[in-house]
Amino acid sequence: MSTWCSNSAKLLLSVYVMSCLLGACAGDFYQDMEITWGDHRAKILNGGQLLTLSLDKASGSGFQSKHEYLFGRIDVQIKLVPGNSAGTVTAYYLSSQGPTHDEIDFEFLGNLSGQPYTLHTNVFTQGKGNREQQFHLWFDPTKAFHTYSLLWNPQRIIFLVDNIAIRVFNNLEKIGVPFPNKQAMRVYSSLWNADDWATQGGRVKTDWSKAPFTAYYRNFNAINVCDINTSSSSSSSSPSCLNNNQGLDAPGRNKLRWVQSKYMIYNYCSDLKRFPHGLPPECKRSRFL
Ligand SMILES: *[C@@H]1O[C@H](CO)[C@@H](O)[C@H](O)[C@H]1NC(C)=O
Ligand SMILES: *[C@@H]1O[C@H](CO)[C@@H](O)[C@H](O)[C@H]1NC(C)=O
Repeated sequence: MSTWCSNSAKLLLSVYVMSCLLGACAGDFYQDMEITWGDHRAKILNGGQLLTLSLDKASGSGFQSKHEYLFGRIDVQIKLVPGNSAGTVTAYYLSSQGPTHDEIDFEFLGNLSGQPYTLHTNVFTQGKGNREQQFHLWFDPTKAFHTYSLLWNPQRIIFLVDNIAIRVFNNLEKIGVPFPNKQAMRVYSSLWNADDWATQGGRVKTDWSKAPFTAYYRNFNAINVCDINTSSSSSSSSPSCLNNNQGLDAPGRNKLRWVQSKYMIYNYCSDLKRFPHGLPPECKRSRFL
């Protein structure tokens, strides 16, 4: 095994836990993130507790994590662009680099005032995506912060909203479906204009008189991660990062069914028109992928 989950990682973990007890663990955006584009449109505020992204006619903005992660549970709280957010997309995702990259996506597609956001999800393995599932939410995501989490372990990826699983992507390597388990990923987020496709299929355009559009982030937290950045003293690899196989218990599966039956608006696994020669193999294995 590599050095990530070794004794020195345990030592780093205990340093991390201690700093948590001292109140400095989650949500220090100065420590965890760097602003990557958009200049003054992206801001870290309140001593690192709050991050805001904004979009105006000239540009959007974005940030990425300083660290790369392999597996773990990665949480963040987001309050989305309020009011008329049509045409805007707030993307929050994990991704590795290169032509055979892996990627796990949340994308929030804005809408006219009073119309529901669409939460678009996708999983790319070895450069190939085409695994979209879309949802409406059971709350207004612009009124308050809600928690969006990715639980990623060697067995499965679970997308959670306020701790409710909305999607599970199982490791089905045994039937030939690639699973992201070899490439570490960074967290990325951006707010940008996508009014050519995002809202009601591109029919509703961004209303620039409402700009700037702003999304708010707080309480970023990565736990049980194999942080491959061994050179960093704030590294927090957990010894359990590789052998955590957490799945859903019966109540968790019931909630997943509730979300998928009431709030799912698109599932590639039931799009026979798109896959006339047969659905992707992972679709046949389980009703609740
Ligand atoms: C490692 O951590 C340092 C300091 O936090 C950061 O600047 C650097 O980009 C990180 N490298 C990777 C590969 O995550
Ligand atoms: C916007 O609202 C319409 C009408 O309620 C809905 O069909 C659509 O899914 C919503 N989201 C987007 C991104 O268009």
